[in-house]
Amino acid sequence: MLSKETFEIEDTYFAPFFVKQKISIEKGDGVYVWDEEGRRYLDFTAGWGVTCIGHANPVITDALVDQGRKIIQNPNSGLTYSPARARLLSLLAGILPLHLTRVFFTNSGAETNDAAIKLARKVTGRPEIVSTYQSFHGRTISTASATGQAKNRDRYRPLMPNYRFVPYNDLDALESSLDESVAAVILEPIQGEGGIRIPSDDYLKGVSELCKKNGSLLIMDEIQTGFFRTGPAFITGSCGVNADFLTMAKGIAGGFPFGAFAMSEEVAEKLEIGDHGGTYCGNPLGCAVSYAVIKYLIDNNISKKVEEMGRLALNRMQQWESAYGDAVAEVRGKGLLIMIEFQNEEIATKIKDECLARGLLVTQTQGIGIRIFPALNIKKGELEEGLHIIEDAIGSVVNRSS
Ligand SMILES: Cc1ncc(COP(=O)(O)O)c(C=O)c1O
Repeated sequence: MLSKETFEIEDTYFAPFFVKQKISIEKGDGVYVWDEEGRRYLDFTAGWGVTCIGHANPVITDALVDQGRKIIQNPNSGLTYSPARARLLSLLAGILPLHLTRVFFTNSGAETNDAAIKLARKVTGRPEIVSTYQSFHGRTISTASATGQAKNRDRYRPLMPNYRFVPYNDLDALESSLDESVAAVILEPIQGEGGIRIPSDDYLKGVSELCKKNGSLLIMDEIQTGFFRTGPAFITGSCGVNADFLTMAKGIAGGFPFGAFAMSEEVAEKLEIGDHGGTYCGNPLGCAVSYAVIKYLIDNNISKKVEEMGRLALNRMQQWESAYGDAVAEVRGKGLLIMIEFQNEEIATKIKDECLARGLLVTQTQGIGIRIFPALNIKKGELEEGLHIIEDAIGSVVNRSS
């Protein structure tokens, strides 16, 4: 098939939720992908932060084939034991914050947050959930209700009841919103989809202390930041934050749809048989892929590499604030999760298009910015190639308008 035919079929039959980019991706290898005509693109989107060990990594293909040859879904699913699940649980125990001892598996980020919200209500017997403005927690009705962005909430009214919002990075506002009806606070340690908003150093610890004082649980949503995206395996645990739930997806299985939540023993003790479940909860295929991906990330010391590459990228990109101040408002980020905020949406759109014309795929975020979140095993030369393209694209847009 040629791209033209693919465009026609998708434009006719695929649900019309997206402004589509006219490229039909046929295959990938590492940080590169190719369209049906064989044109190569560098991927700085990692499928929205998912393909953390690159495209078509043999580690994933081998796990899929090996496990696929054995079994992909257990008889009676979670009621029976699985060595693939047990292996993954052991591996996760080594990287999760120590007190988060119990794990359950899911299929996506939204489903994971949905479960954590539901179980927090069950455990505390309280109805209210506090979330933050500009947050993103998913697209199911309960996670859209927990999402602090009007564009992702308002068109689905009536939303689920009992959600409150406070400004991000504001401990006083959070303290005022907490009372004895609050079951949980749900929080991203860095707001991802909201535009890579990094809170002040004491914020997360402060949130966790306020939750404890109020008897509310803390759900840390690390769906975007987890699995070494910002350097450490998780931000939770690395900065004195005592979460009750940690929610995970995206990088957990490098592109295979999978997710998980971890919870403390105290929380788990208050849960009962039947409180949660799911047909695919820890299916052996997903577990085998997730195990292979996480093992690769650990064995290749990805944490250190992400810190090095992130520093390199951020240092270089922050120079653009002064070099191209007419276009670049701010560059911020941690590890390989970086946002270039432009002076306005028109500039951001033009630069995204110029990047595409030069063979680089980036994600436009909040209209006004470009989010950079490539595979975590990206090599220095590949990162520099992408940075060079972005700088060239910025230069061309600035020159054209001056
Ligand atoms: C922080 C966060 N939570 C939840 C989600 C929802 O995950 P999914 O799209 O897998 O449902 C996302 C997706 O971007 C996310 O970034």
